[in-house]
Amino acid sequence: MIKSIFQATVILLCTKNSLEKTDFEKHRFPVDFSFGVASSAYQIEGGYNEDGKGESIFDHYTKTKPKKFFNETNGNVACDSYHKWRTDVKLLADLGVDFYRFSISWSRILPQGFSHPINGDGLRYYNDLINELIANGIKPMVTMHHKDMPMVLQRLGGWTNPYTAYYFEDYARILFSYFGDRVKNWITLEADCSGYGDDVDPPFIDEPSTSRYLCTHVMLLAHAKVYLLYDEEFRTSQNGKIGIGVNASWYEAGSFAPEDIIAAERAREFKIGSIMNPIFHTDGNYPRIMRERVYNVSREEGYLQSRLPILSPQEIDYIQGTYDFAGLNIDTTFLVRQNTEKTNETATKKDLNVTFYQDKSWTKTNTDWLRVVPDGVRKVLKWVKDKYDDPEIFIIGNGFTDKAEINDAKRVQNLQKYLQAILESIHEDGTNVKGYAIWSFLDSFQWTSGYRWECVWKMSCIFFLLFPDLSREKYGLYHVDFSDANRKRTARKSAIWYKKVIKEKRVVDLKEV
Ligand SMILES: *[C@@H]1O[C@H](CO)[C@@H](O)[C@H](O)[C@H]1NC(C)=O
Ligand SMILES: *[C@@H]1O[C@H](CO)[C@@H](O)[C@H](O)[C@H]1NC(C)=O
Ligand SMILES: *[C@@H]1O[C@H](CO)[C@@H](O)[C@H](O)[C@H]1NC(C)=O
Ligand SMILES: *[C@@H]1O[C@H](CO)[C@@H](O)[C@H](O)[C@H]1NC(C)=O
Ligand SMILES: *[C@@H]1O[C@H](CO)[C@@H](O)[C@H](O)[C@H]1NC(C)=O
Repeated sequence: MIKSIFQATVILLCTKNSLEKTDFEKHRFPVDFSFGVASSAYQIEGGYNEDGKGESIFDHYTKTKPKKFFNETNGNVACDSYHKWRTDVKLLADLGVDFYRFSISWSRILPQGFSHPINGDGLRYYNDLINELIANGIKPMVTMHHKDMPMVLQRLGGWTNPYTAYYFEDYARILFSYFGDRVKNWITLEADCSGYGDDVDPPFIDEPSTSRYLCTHVMLLAHAKVYLLYDEEFRTSQNGKIGIGVNASWYEAGSFAPEDIIAAERAREFKIGSIMNPIFHTDGNYPRIMRERVYNVSREEGYLQSRLPILSPQEIDYIQGTYDFAGLNIDTTFLVRQNTEKTNETATKKDLNVTFYQDKSWTKTNTDWLRVVPDGVRKVLKWVKDKYDDPEIFIIGNGFTDKAEINDAKRVQNLQKYLQAILESIHEDGTNVKGYAIWSFLDSFQWTSGYRWECVWKMSCIFFLLFPDLSREKYGLYHVDFSDANRKRTARKSAIWYKKVIKEKRVVDLKEV
């Protein structure tokens, strides 16, 4: 109330000079802009085998291939949010976020992956969380699937099995039925096919020529199915919005040479367009350059058909337009150069035929590839706007890693630059960015990087002094003490800063907090 009177007064005082008024607005996010923080189920929940939860690929592989995870850690307890959800909601309420992006663990709701049996305790957990959020004025933004595929379905091929799209639809129907009366913002999938085509991430499908394309293909169909299911059965009564989560780092040409400029656009089409084009482009389908390249390279290699699955005209029609907004994870920027000679690379890399690298002068984080390039954020937002007819955009993940400092001035400085770039994108480029979530709410189990920086006993501290690079990967606005059975959470300076950003809807400087 006071705030709006204050604002009204300022606007009134400024109306004399229209330029000043614009300046005032330029420094603020639009009134309907929302701020949030993000997390995902496996990374924070723990309670991995409690109350009837089934096994996910992360439960499975942290057990069967522990060496693939830093210091052989796992998410069995993680931040213990399965038990500490009330504490979490209190922190979120204190932060003042408009929305909280979290994911639901498919195997907690459906232990076998299929629509039967349903785990009532899983429903209860998310019901409690959703109700508590709403009671505190926080909108839930729910990702239905964020990497943690039920193991039963993985054994049947996971995202390479076309029937997974049907099982995903069953799962989504259950989520809409039980939670859709209160959840109005859904992200179907984190469209992330890491682990398909490499032996680095779960599910370790070490097949380099085709598996990644199959994964993308089945995810597209699964997403469209769920969107259309909502249209047919739930939209009129529930009236929510559905989007998909896309990994949208920016790809910048490494030089002004025409082949590098072309290579950078090709990289954008392969990396962002492979998911976005079929859904968001009026033509639908995979980007033309991607279809042609994969077809040509496949034929040259001796395959009888393209390794990229073909979307039939019916499928193109089915998938096209299945969005209410685009959910963009904006991590960083890569420079791109056309490969200069024949390289000894595996198939999907051959298709793209470029080299990625980063500028050593870009600000480092504590993750080797996560450099801070605010201008890249502005460019990727503009590219998405121009290419896909100006969709509504939610930035659903953007963050900075450090070594777990509580006084994290560097995180603040860099997120501040990102927010400034987003503000300029909205006001100067006219992009339709409606919301922003910091990755992440809490320090979490960072997939194969585990927890890092666990200086529990003296030897490990010496280890980190000797190998500081291994101490990386803390993303949280809240520090979590993973050596404490109670998983004590502590607000970082950045949390206090973000609170003021949210409250005042402008890019606050660290000096002001
Ligand atoms: C996004 O891209 C980065 C850089 O290539 C990668 O390391 C990360 O795993 C990707 N994340 C997702 C969610 O796909
Ligand atoms: C694919 O091959 C055809 C026939 O050789 C050629 O005309 C076309 O330019 C190639 N496309 C790409 C993207 O390399
Ligand atoms: C990749 O680019 C290099 C240089 O332009 C070329 O020699 C090579 O044949 C290309 N590889 C493929 C698979 O297109
Ligand atoms: C090409 O890669 C394969 C598989 O990684 C390896 O076995 C082979 O020695 C490499 N060849 C060259 C010329 O580097
Ligand atoms: C590795 O894990 C052990 C036991 O879980 C823990 O005591 C130790 O501090 C960890 N070491 C590092 C380097 O994180």
